[in-house]
Amino acid sequence: MLSSTLGKKLLMSLTGLFLISFLLIHLIGNLAIFSNDGGLAFNSYALFMTTNPLIGAASYLLYGGIVLHLIVAIILYFGNNSARPFKYKVVNAKSNSTWAARSMSLLGSLVLIFIVLHLKDFWWQYKHDGGYQFAIDANGNKDLYALVVLKFKTTFSLVTYLIGLFALFLHLSHGFQSAFQTLGLQHEKYTPTIKVIGMAFSIIVPLAYASMPLYIYFCQG
Ligand code: HEM
Repeated sequence: MLSSTLGKKLLMSLTGLFLISFLLIHLIGNLAIFSNDGGLAFNSYALFMTTNPLIGAASYLLYGGIVLHLIVAIILYFGNNSARPFKYKVVNAKSNSTWAARSMSLLGSLVLIFIVLHLKDFWWQYKHDGGYQFAIDANGNKDLYALVVLKFKTTFSLVTYLIGLFALFLHLSHGFQSAFQTLGLQHEKYTPTIKVIGMAFSIIVPLAYASMPLYIYFCQG
């Protein structure tokens, strides 16, 4: 699959769609932040996600998916820029494609920086004992919610999360429909619908994620 450009694009699409499905599941789980119970539901959910062996196995698929999406993106980027001695003359790129479509590498890099900072904030502390002293909640679980509140109460975190989620919105706004196009799902009747669904997903999912730091920053404690 890695030997041809089409094979690499197929891999980008498949890993991209897999990461999109993770985004939806992670979002639904994180909605426990809004349960207004001091974080009990959120902490139980985090414990379940960490201890369930099936989810543990799926996590490794997720890490593999992120790394593969990144590696193939890098190969495609350098392949496109170095394979031909003279650059193609680009005729009217601006009117043929959106800024997001022309900036997928930049946007993907911003999303990657966001993910690294995000993993350092929570995943590293919760699953790898990054040095933060967790309190124990009323159910006897590690109080991850308290750490989420601590983070999202700082203006720096709020702003960096909002920037990261804006980059995610732009990345998805092209990536979602582009994945279907690469998989060959081009159809007079269905393509416009896929584009609308893709755009709705790209707007609603990052907005729903953004509502979490905004809710904690403005409405908690
Ligand atoms: C802004 C709202 C978000 C909140 C409150 C949040 C919260 C968390 C927390 C608490 C964890 C560590 C515990 C766990 O694994 O469940 C986590 C892990 C993770 N988050 Fe997020 N997250 C948010 C947005 C995102 C976004 C937008 C992405 C991707 C672009 C993302 C990607 C990840 C990944 C890859 C992990 C590691 C998952 C694993 O180990 O299985 N998160 N998140």
